[in-house]
Amino acid sequence: MTNRQVRVTELPKGTLKQDNFELTEADMPAVQDGQVLVKTTLISIDAAMRAWMQGATYRAPVKPGDAMPCYAISEVVDGNGTKFQSGDLVAGESVWADYAALPARGLMKLPKVEPLSHLMSVYGIAGKTAFHGLVNVGRVIAGETVLVSAAAGSVGGFVGQIAKAFGCRVVGIAGGPEKCAWVTEELGFDACVDYRDPGMFKALRAACPDGVDVYFDNVGGQVLETALFVMNERGRVVCCGAVSQYDTDAATGPRNLPGLVVVKRLRMEGFIVMDFVREDAAALRALQTWVASGQIKVTEDIVEGLENAPAALIGLLAGENKGKRMVRVAADPS
Ligand SMILES: NC(=O)c1ccc[n+]([C@@H]2O[C@H](COP(=O)([O-])OP(=O)(O)OC[C@H]3O[C@@H](n4cnc5c(N)ncnc54)[C@H](OP(=O)(O)O)[C@@H]3O)[C@@H](O)[C@H]2O)c1
Repeated sequence: MTNRQVRVTELPKGTLKQDNFELTEADMPAVQDGQVLVKTTLISIDAAMRAWMQGATYRAPVKPGDAMPCYAISEVVDGNGTKFQSGDLVAGESVWADYAALPARGLMKLPKVEPLSHLMSVYGIAGKTAFHGLVNVGRVIAGETVLVSAAAGSVGGFVGQIAKAFGCRVVGIAGGPEKCAWVTEELGFDACVDYRDPGMFKALRAACPDGVDVYFDNVGGQVLETALFVMNERGRVVCCGAVSQYDTDAATGPRNLPGLVVVKRLRMEGFIVMDFVREDAAALRALQTWVASGQIKVTEDIVEGLENAPAALIGLLAGENKGKRMVRVAADPS
């Protein structure tokens, strides 16, 4: 039996391209002590994967020849004497492949949820990142104005909807008029500003007449620079990611740091979702309540087929997606 894998041929210089990857056929993985054999069901496509190709981040960098690392939901095929049984559904670090041998200690057994994909979107890293960033880092309060970038993406879309559920005025930033209209009409944001429009600063001012109390930054760069100008005194800037800086070899940082942070007495704080693992249960309870009440709409963008994983990541970085992008490698186990 063979196993399809997508490997990194060469690290990207500038924009990620299809030929940075190759689809290969490998032998079935050999399972070592402490490992389980899994069959991949869903692969998460994350902007951060491009940052992993730039060097060390919160995880080891990707190297040429590696099967592309990812977060995945998989079905256990062989528990190999560990605590997992065949048929268990698990989530954890994996690779772009049909099958993988993974350390049992890195895997989490999943509950039965319908649809399974919600464990990768609203009840997965995206939903938890949005909740922890807004609540535990941004310390949002009802009545405040919350601004969020990459607002039509998976984390950003949840941030805005959670902030609405808290009773905030919510303004998004997204690429293009069609996405901005979708963010207000479908996700219920109060306004959304197109960062590709040269009049972005004026539009932001008009959309935030009382200034911004919490800016949830997913993009960094020039958008962050512009957002700092509309922050209120004592505002909080939640640094979640910097997608505008990942897919390029010419990074551009904001020029108004630390000046505006000083003058406006801002608190700017970065975080990684795992920092708040002890608060995950509270986050999941709140997210379930909002999904059940219809205050959070779950948008999923599922690309079919392992062979399409490179195009799915390239497309996400180009802004193709609305909501949580993932790749279906195999049908949900029944
Ligand atoms: N701190 C954490 O623990 C944590 C966890 C998960 C994710 N994150 C971060 O959250 C952010 C969103 O990640 P995601 O995986 O959920 O992806 P996503 O938001 O679903 O998709 C990425 C979006 O970024 C936007 N984008 C691409 N290039 C841009 C640019 N130059 N300027 C502005 N926007 C740009 C695109 O939308 P447009 O069409 O609007 O351009 C695209 O749809 C990333 O920064 C990621 O690193 C952080």
